[in-house]
Amino acid sequence: MPLTLEGKRPRALVTGAAKRLGAAFALDLARRGWDLWLHYHTSEEDARALAAKIGDLGRRARLVQADLSLSGGVEALAERLEESPPLLIVHSASVWNQDTLVDAAAETWESSHRLHVWTAVVLARALARWSAEGRGEGHLVTLLDSRLRDQDPQHFSYAFAKRELAQLTRYLAAELAPGVRVNGLAPGLILKAGLASTPLARNGRPADLVRALRYLTDNRFVTGQILAVDGGRHPKGDLFGSL
Ligand SMILES: NC(=O)c1ccc[n+]([C@@H]2O[C@H](COP(=O)([O-])OP(=O)(O)OC[C@H]3O[C@@H](n4cnc5c(N)ncnc54)[C@H](OP(=O)(O)O)[C@@H]3O)[C@@H](O)[C@H]2O)c1
Repeated sequence: MPLTLEGKRPRALVTGAAKRLGAAFALDLARRGWDLWLHYHTSEEDARALAAKIGDLGRRARLVQADLSLSGGVEALAERLEESPPLLIVHSASVWNQDTLVDAAAETWESSHRLHVWTAVVLARALARWSAEGRGEGHLVTLLDSRLRDQDPQHFSYAFAKRELAQLTRYLAAELAPGVRVNGLAPGLILKAGLASTPLARNGRPADLVRALRYLTDNRFVTGQILAVDGGRHPKGDLFGSL
């Protein structure tokens, strides 16, 4: 079990923790000895149910609500975390906005960038400060998308925000070492049963991402890495239209 420099149980924050991949990450971290901050936006009931499961494992889970697409949203979240700062942050919250070059609205572009990119900037700065205060090594894991390299005409704002988040992941890794490691996880399609098979002839499951997160958290010699967990889709390129 990981311990902080003070010999205490470490804390992790998962953004978008109430459901799906975020919930899988949070539950696995709890099983591995972490206390949790569970961030949610609208899914309070799911977040409470998850907190209860984590409590049953003997770990502490605190809930924190924030709309990270709004101005001031992540700043309020970071302030709340001051009461018990996390060393690991998994930034999983996301919206898969449907828009195109032609119809994208400035509001969607901005809210997507706030949620995906600005949130990571503010949380990385907080981790750097907590680490400089001697709380231990920080680690930010960003959730990207294995299809980033391709042209995605139907998710214009999302695709650009995730691309910037990928750039930011590498930038932060260089800027914040040695106090904070920064890595990215780039899933392929997960949680959609019955889609066309991947090159590895199977669909992705949350457990595949959970194992990848374990690798990144456990290997303290890795930073600035973007790990695709997509059954081998990304080397093929030009995936749009073929999911
Ligand atoms: N699932 C996949 O196949 C797949 C593929 C490629 C990449 N990814 C990436 O992997 C990560 C996890 O995937 P997922 O499918 O579990 O994500 P998801 O269900 O699309 O979103 C996760 C959570 O983000 C939160 N969220 C949405 N809008 C928000 C806002 N304005 N402020 C704060 N939180 C907000 C929601 O919280 P509430 O429910 O509380 O409202 C939601 O439960 C995402 O970053 C996603 O882009 C996933």
